[in-house]
Amino acid sequence: MPIINLSELVNRITNPVPWEDVKYNFPWNDPDFSKRMLKEHLDESHDLASRSPGVMNRQLDWIETTWFEPREVKTVLDLTCGPGLIANELARRGYTVRGFDVAPAAIDYARKTATREALPAIFNERDIRAIGYDAGYDAAIFNYGMPNSFNKEEFSLILNRTRDALDPGGFVILEFNSLNSIKNKTGREWRTVSENGLFGERPYLWLQENFYHEENKTAAVIHYIIDLENAGVRTYSICYQGYTRDDLEPILNSCGLKIVAEFDSLTGETGLDDPVNMVVIAERIESEGE
Ligand SMILES: C[S@@+](CC[C@H](N)C(=O)[O-])C[C@H]1O[C@@H](n2cnc3c(N)ncnc32)[C@H](O)[C@@H]1O
Repeated sequence: MPIINLSELVNRITNPVPWEDVKYNFPWNDPDFSKRMLKEHLDESHDLASRSPGVMNRQLDWIETTWFEPREVKTVLDLTCGPGLIANELARRGYTVRGFDVAPAAIDYARKTATREALPAIFNERDIRAIGYDAGYDAAIFNYGMPNSFNKEEFSLILNRTRDALDPGGFVILEFNSLNSIKNKTGREWRTVSENGLFGERPYLWLQENFYHEENKTAAVIHYIIDLENAGVRTYSICYQGYTRDDLEPILNSCGLKIVAEFDSLTGETGLDDPVNMVVIAERIESEGE
């Protein structure tokens, strides 16, 4: 993560191409950042890192009754599982679950919960771009817009490995940010944080700038964090790839998956005016001889 002087802010990038000009992702695997992020995951007053328990349980009820029970799902893979709130809840409901996440504090929390409650859930601290996911899963979940946060090559890699990890008849539930919500990532906002914020323990001034790149359907969100003690500026950024269903179809097909259903939310809504999410259920394509 680059640290610049306050005076250099004036020369900051103002029309970036996401992933080309904006390369630094959130430091998900940094121990301190992941501890601070864990606090956000566990804060039930907002849905900013994980869904609050009420929302999450409504989503899991829908997933269970519409997809898991009719298809007799027993084993579930959770990609970017965070502190395992979903995975451990599925394990409480009787599923055998494996979760992968790169954040050490989140995985530690997930494991401790599973151990304390003797749940059938295993958690691995891994970058999902760097590993295979084993095999034998009936279903996979990749939620909370995280499919948008990888570039197209990385996303294809993850989908190929997901497909390989699924048993015949297996399927993946993908929860994207809708293209419109990616397009709406424009504008600028200043905030002050007195202490113990996501981006630092000490008080800071926070400039967030959002950019949408029409040609590539990509967005970048750049956070400039100005330390109020020494005026050093740290930069955190995250890029998003937007997709329509038509964009997704060939990508999924080339990774051995076919779309079987599409919704506006993880509770199965359809026909919303301006949905924030796009949920796609994609099933493993059986190749001849399998
Ligand atoms: C918004 S949170 C969602 C957590 C969880 N899916 C949920 O709904 O509660 C995103 C998670 O993705 C994880 N993550 C980001 N990039 C990753 C990567 N390359 N490999 C594994 N995990 C990653 C982060 O550490 C973080 O825990």
